[in-house]
Amino acid sequence: MQKTRDFHLRSIDDRDTFWRAEAERIHWETPFEQVLDFSRPPFARWFVGGQTNLCYNAVDRWVPQQGDQPALIWVSTEVDKEVVYTRRQLYDEVNAVASMLREQGVGRGDRVLLYMPMVPEAVFTMLACARLGAVHSVVFGGFASVNLAQRIDDATPKVIVSSDAGSRAGKVVPYKPLLDKALSLCAHPPGSVIVLDRGLAPCERQPGRDLDYADLRQRHEGSQVPVQWLESSEPSYILYTSGTTGKPKGVQRDVGGYAVALASSMEYLFDGKPGDTYFCTSDIGCVVGHSYIVYGPLIGGQATILYEGTPVRPDGAILWSLVERFGVNTLFSAPTAVRVLKRQAPELLSRHDLSSLRAVYLAGEPLDEPTAQWISQGLGKPIIDNYWQTESGWPILSAQPGVERVPTRFGSPSFPVYGFDARIVSERTGEDLGPGEKGVVALAPPLPPGAMSTIWGDDERFVQTYFTSIPGRQLYSTFDWGRVDEDGYWFILGRTDDVINVAGHRLGTREIEESINSHTAIAECAVVGVADALKGQVAMAFAVLKNPESAESPERARTLEGDIMRVVEDQLGAVARPARIRFVSALPKTRSGKVLRRAIVAVCEGRDPGDLTTIEDPSSLEQIKDSLQ
Ligand code: PRX
Repeated sequence: MQKTRDFHLRSIDDRDTFWRAEAERIHWETPFEQVLDFSRPPFARWFVGGQTNLCYNAVDRWVPQQGDQPALIWVSTEVDKEVVYTRRQLYDEVNAVASMLREQGVGRGDRVLLYMPMVPEAVFTMLACARLGAVHSVVFGGFASVNLAQRIDDATPKVIVSSDAGSRAGKVVPYKPLLDKALSLCAHPPGSVIVLDRGLAPCERQPGRDLDYADLRQRHEGSQVPVQWLESSEPSYILYTSGTTGKPKGVQRDVGGYAVALASSMEYLFDGKPGDTYFCTSDIGCVVGHSYIVYGPLIGGQATILYEGTPVRPDGAILWSLVERFGVNTLFSAPTAVRVLKRQAPELLSRHDLSSLRAVYLAGEPLDEPTAQWISQGLGKPIIDNYWQTESGWPILSAQPGVERVPTRFGSPSFPVYGFDARIVSERTGEDLGPGEKGVVALAPPLPPGAMSTIWGDDERFVQTYFTSIPGRQLYSTFDWGRVDEDGYWFILGRTDDVINVAGHRLGTREIEESINSHTAIAECAVVGVADALKGQVAMAFAVLKNPESAESPERARTLEGDIMRVVEDQLGAVARPARIRFVSALPKTRSGKVLRRAIVAVCEGRDPGDLTTIEDPSSLEQIKDSLQ
């Protein structure tokens, strides 16, 4: 492990030399003058003065050598289609979309919002934005209208690109009505909406605003759009994520730092090389999709698989059959997907030839030991648990087989990745803690290339949110608990704040509480994340009614529970819907009025709630226990 340690140390102690060398992996139209400007901490500007472009590095740059090789492989088990785009075809499609967007007035710095399913047109649009120097903001397809409206108002896009519908497990999910509703709710609707009609769900078109993707594409086919060179620190995209407040945070990323970080990770983390095939099962609405479906593999000269479907349709061997057919070298997925597969016959894991596959990378939520063991034994491949966040843009903790092969340990995402000055610190004193001690996982700034540059439109909130919670020091808080063992392996021990992770989706319990509170029957409520064998965590809600009679009989309580669930689903989407809503007459609180969430979680998980000396009314916790019977 010495080599990994030395490599990491060099990236921190001799930062400029380290990153100057890594920067050579990408094309710079104009060389940078300075590796890092950290004159205004905690803001970091990487590769100052350098001009580059994400689309050029992902597409144009590889056309001469790899023009006829696959670059984007689309597989949909939802609509039973497969299309392979060579790098040249990808270039052509991206140029056509760039030309379409340019016609709509999109240029450098303008925002374009994507609300799309896992289709190639979504990737073309992201890359087209990058080509024009426009800032894309991808919102999960099918996300609830209220959420979508909030994001539209924050990003104020000039154009929205969407689709008639997505499809999930064979069921059509119409997107356009959700988008139309969001547009009717928001204060800053865009001038135009480009709709990709997949023929899945008939939808209304608003004349003058809604345009047809296929018509536009036909008109712009064959167009060439010059690359807009951007200064390294200009924004490339905004990606919204949940925090502890109801207001989503627009994580803003740069151009040059991101390209360099991803390019380096293709070698050091994934041990890959140009010509490889990379398969990431994430969604393009997630940071993992941005970094490892779209930009990372393409910038690294690899072919990338875009998969629309679930891991169990048509059967539980679909992922492995794709690995075999396309000679996948790297597979990136989430623990949730593996837990779903665990319910299938284990023989499915060994039905296909997986000789091309080097390793399986899993991220997004804690990877429990039994799940890791099951998949590792079933496949006979290394499993690499890696830990990161929307904010970091790429892994903070991971094994780095391209640097050195070090045995992994189940339950641990291994070691800090080069560039991330990670520490475990005391939440009380802010001091660094030693081996075995539990503390907050913090990062000493400057954050490395590829990490967020700020919160879109709100520098102050960036500093306040991330850099003020550790006492006495300006450190970035991940809001995760962690511990390092005697041998230097890191462990993640859950969130320090009220963010929960349901099937790999990050949700703020505050958002769910606000949504439940919007129901007229509710006086107040508490939402907590409770361990779940399949989804990792589920939300559980405990609500106090304005009028207890509204749930006096079990039938009335069930009806009300259903009503409230529909409100949450409508406002925040199905993932945010609590597994249960239970009605109580009081919430367990401290004498100063703070809800005792940890005690509620412990009771829900059948554990001892621990120290309750600060509780105002012990019977309130008893009620919670009783309500679970
Ligand atoms: O709590 C950590 C958990 O997911 C959070 C970040 O979620 P998101 O912003 O959606 O980014 C996902 C990018 C992979 C983290 O703060 N998390 C992520 N990976 C792991 C994890 N928890 C434990 N182990 C992991 N490998």
